[in-house]
Amino acid sequence: MTTFGGSWTEQKAQIVEKYAQAYLQIMKERPWKTLYFDGFAGAGSIEISNSKEIEGVAKRILKINNPTSFDLYYFVELSASKAASLKKMVKKDFPEKEKFVFIVQQDCNQKLADLSVFLNKNKNEFRVLAFIDPYGMELRWESVEKLKGYGLDLWLLLPTGLGTRLLTRSGRIPQKWMIKLESFLGISSETIQDTFYQKSMQTELFEEEQSLIKEKQSIQKLHTLFKNRLLSVFNYVSKPYVIRNKNNSIMYHFLLASNNRTAIKIANDIIKKYEL
Ligand SMILES: C[S@@+](CC[C@H](N)C(=O)[O-])C[C@H]1O[C@@H](n2cnc3c(N)ncnc32)[C@H](O)[C@@H]1O
Repeated sequence: MTTFGGSWTEQKAQIVEKYAQAYLQIMKERPWKTLYFDGFAGAGSIEISNSKEIEGVAKRILKINNPTSFDLYYFVELSASKAASLKKMVKKDFPEKEKFVFIVQQDCNQKLADLSVFLNKNKNEFRVLAFIDPYGMELRWESVEKLKGYGLDLWLLLPTGLGTRLLTRSGRIPQKWMIKLESFLGISSETIQDTFYQKSMQTELFEEEQSLIKEKQSIQKLHTLFKNRLLSVFNYVSKPYVIRNKNNSIMYHFLLASNNRTAIKIANDIIKKYEL
């Protein structure tokens, strides 16, 4: 079981579930096989407080039979105990689907690379709905880039709140954090500095010193930057569903990237219903 926070976890799960239903309604009439790829699949259920437990997205997706089911399910989960719980849940609750379900205990980035190789070979046979739901910046940009040119819709949870916390106010970003930002955004430390900081020169008595001033709208900038990065891989990106914590601070932007315009319209319609 995963312990995680708040009603937004439920709302995010409902958004993916509703989208999957609409997706399958369309795919039912199409010639392709459908694959659901969940890169951060969890344990099958989520404890959102000590007393309350909700169904994880994996289980919700497996439950869908109407309008139709996915042909294949691929769940990636790094934690051995969570992957084992997920396997147990599938065996117990979905014995009839077990042979169509793959559960691998590995890093999502590795499996996204494998997925792109698979799609390259089976491009005309499969359509994929992918869900990437990390806690933080575990996803690497190079993994997203590999998905270019396929019939794949990608729901992505962008950790914009965490990202902006790594962008320290002084601009002196610890090396470990900078490496994380570089791999997540797929841009160099120089571009990160140029994007999120303004340079200001301060003159001391005998020398000039340069200091950095962090952009005020850094969360929005981070969202825009990532959206534009996504638009170099996919044709369209949906509006974001913005997830805030109890203090009203932004934690995540949740959005869909797709090569299909109708997919984005459906996502935007669903998101609209969840906006405050
Ligand atoms: C936010 S939870 C996902 C919850 C899930 N979507 C659900 O509905 O239950 C993130 C999950 O990703 C797993 N994880 C962390 N790093 C990972 C990685 N590099 N590759 C795959 N899974 C990872 C964690 O163990 C955790 O279960």
